[in-house]
Amino acid sequence: MNDKSIREAMALLKLNASRDIILEKFDNETFELAKARIKGKEKHPKADKLFMLLDDLRWATPYEVAEYRAKRLSCNKIADLGCGVGFQSFSFAKHCKSVVAVDIDRRKIEFAKLNAEALGIKNIEFIEGDILSKKVADKLKDADAFFCDPERLPSETARTIKTMRPDIEKLLKLYPKICIEFPPMIKNIPFECEKEYLSLNGELNRLNLYFSELRKCRASAVVLPQGAVIRASVVRNIIAEEQKAPKIMDFFYEVDPAVEKAELTAELLLTMKNAYVYEQDNDIYLTSGKLLKNDFVKAYKVLEVVEDDFDKILEALQRQKAGKVVLRMTVSPKDYWTERNKYERSLLGDKEVHLFVFDRAVIAEKL
Ligand SMILES: C[S@@+](CC[C@H](N)C(=O)[O-])C[C@H]1O[C@@H](n2cnc3c(N)ncnc32)[C@H](O)[C@@H]1O
Repeated sequence: MNDKSIREAMALLKLNASRDIILEKFDNETFELAKARIKGKEKHPKADKLFMLLDDLRWATPYEVAEYRAKRLSCNKIADLGCGVGFQSFSFAKHCKSVVAVDIDRRKIEFAKLNAEALGIKNIEFIEGDILSKKVADKLKDADAFFCDPERLPSETARTIKTMRPDIEKLLKLYPKICIEFPPMIKNIPFECEKEYLSLNGELNRLNLYFSELRKCRASAVVLPQGAVIRASVVRNIIAEEQKAPKIMDFFYEVDPAVEKAELTAELLLTMKNAYVYEQDNDIYLTSGKLLKNDFVKAYKVLEVVEDDFDKILEALQRQKAGKVVLRMTVSPKDYWTERNKYERSLLGDKEVHLFVFDRAVIAEKL
């Protein structure tokens, strides 16, 4: 494995050279490492120096998430249990005095060591071993906090606790003061812990479970890269009748998916005076007569609300001088452009509007 060869293979990939041409010059491992470095930019700002395969990258923690988590778990000595090629460990190394990074997979530990060297990180001790073994647990006794991002089966359609590796029950017994990353779509979390949902660039990205002293509340929601946090202070997420909007007002807000998953809408309302809940088909929106700024919502200005009827919607779009219509109702991806073109071919304006269809159609402009 030669860094110079990987760089040369990357240069050829960037020139769109075919696989066969690259493999005439370099071995398959170099080709795979070069591909991962190019794709890795999405997850780490210095991915072009790192050693990983595409599969390692798939499971690696994105930089913004790793940084947020490391700041929250900042302590003297942290143990990263199942560190993979090290993306999360590198952020721990920045925010904790020292890190012990463990993985059962020899190749990953070797890559993680090379990566730490490439990044100039010196405060990580790497251990190859099984985190559920007594031998490893004994070595980690003096850590102040533990973190684990378990392995999941790539093929499974619904995420379950049983298929995660290492075994979660055993992990909790050995390391009670732990934060565990869980798939955010998992249903039923049968543990007494804080559930922290994170969104990255508006999309639900991660779920962190904090146990014992690491737990701060029932649930929390975090939006990244902004870093804004809401923590549950109210016991239940109940929306009072007077907080429900009878109709859509001048401004309309999409709620960040992390808030919805963490069931923190009632908490969000505490921070948004004059906002009301508009619930449609289990989706929660907010509406207000005022323009409100908040990291947990995307704001729209309502231009018109009309009956859900094609001709009436088209007339309203023409009145609003719309040219592009972003469809915000459920449309299958294969029909999306056919449906969108039905409106756009009769429009001459230059404004981009968003069309939400509930029991009424809402034409709105993103702010
Ligand atoms: C999802 S990956 C971790 C990715 C990592 N957080 C990152 O940011 O790159 C899970 C890792 O857990 C490791 N693993 C699974 N069971 C383990 C065990 N019993 N002991 C040590 N490592 C284990 C796997 O080898 C794998 O590298």
